[in-house]
Amino acid sequence: VSPPPADAERPIGVFDSGVGGLTVLRALRDALPSEQFIYLGDTARLPYGTKSPQTVARYALQAADALVARAVKALVIACNTASSVALPAMRARFGDLPLIGVVEPGAQAAVEASRSGHIAVIGTEATVRGGAYQRAITQRRPQSQVQARACQLFVALAEEGWTSGPVVQAVAEQYLWPLFGAGAAASAGPGMAAGAGMAPGTADTAVPDTLVLACTHFPVLRAVIQQVVGARVSVVDAAATTALATRALLHERGLLREATVRSHGSPPPRYLATDAVSRFAAIGDRFLGSRIGAGEIELIDL
Ligand code: DGL
Repeated sequence: VSPPPADAERPIGVFDSGVGGLTVLRALRDALPSEQFIYLGDTARLPYGTKSPQTVARYALQAADALVARAVKALVIACNTASSVALPAMRARFGDLPLIGVVEPGAQAAVEASRSGHIAVIGTEATVRGGAYQRAITQRRPQSQVQARACQLFVALAEEGWTSGPVVQAVAEQYLWPLFGAGAAASAGPGMAAGAGMAPGTADTAVPDTLVLACTHFPVLRAVIQQVVGARVSVVDAAATTALATRALLHERGLLREATVRSHGSPPPRYLATDAVSRFAAIGDRFLGSRIGAGEIELIDL
């Protein structure tokens, strides 16, 4: 029997309700090229964003248990909904295990990007309702004005692989024009006229200069979102800042693997899904930026 691996040799667990967290895995792999990752997508129970906080917390704890049972050395909650709702319960359950959610890093990315302090947050219903982003932003920058809006349909579009085209454009306009104004896009064409009455408010209502994609599914829709809000708005997400936060925490705990691994390249991640393995493989590459074979994904039950 071989001895258990030294702590730093163990994999990092990454969890999302579906494939959206692969946008975070991608940033993690870039920032931590020597680390081994196990990614779990709870595809059987997606979406989390429409469910009650109690249900999200129960699901998230079960998913976390499955990763902890696979001896992960740290856990990245690559789901804004689960991070907003379940992080305290996870900290209570897992004690010393390094836990990284995406809300604090996402809020950090937003305050770094914003000049005016007027920030818009879009996420799932549960994320927006819970208010964790709004709190994390105003904690970092008390004078900021935060507007949040649930854009739940973006999750379905992203999971469907619909990342551009007239349907995505129309949904994005419907959600975002009330925050940014119908004339926000630099390339306002004839189609914009229909929404002209939705331009936000009065002259003293400043339009946000920063939009946080507070859902790990949304970065694949970034091009359309950017086009609808206009080029002057900084569109940020939590992926890169989460990767940096993970790196910093592992360093602080002496758990970085890079010191022990040289020039072997990045080991391929392991993938776990609770349903629809072939669907995961078919759409996962859009989120990860590289191909995932169906044979690389293990079907598990929670
Ligand atoms: N990926 C999840 C998030 O970041 C949203 C998807 C869902 O509703 O399950 O909030």
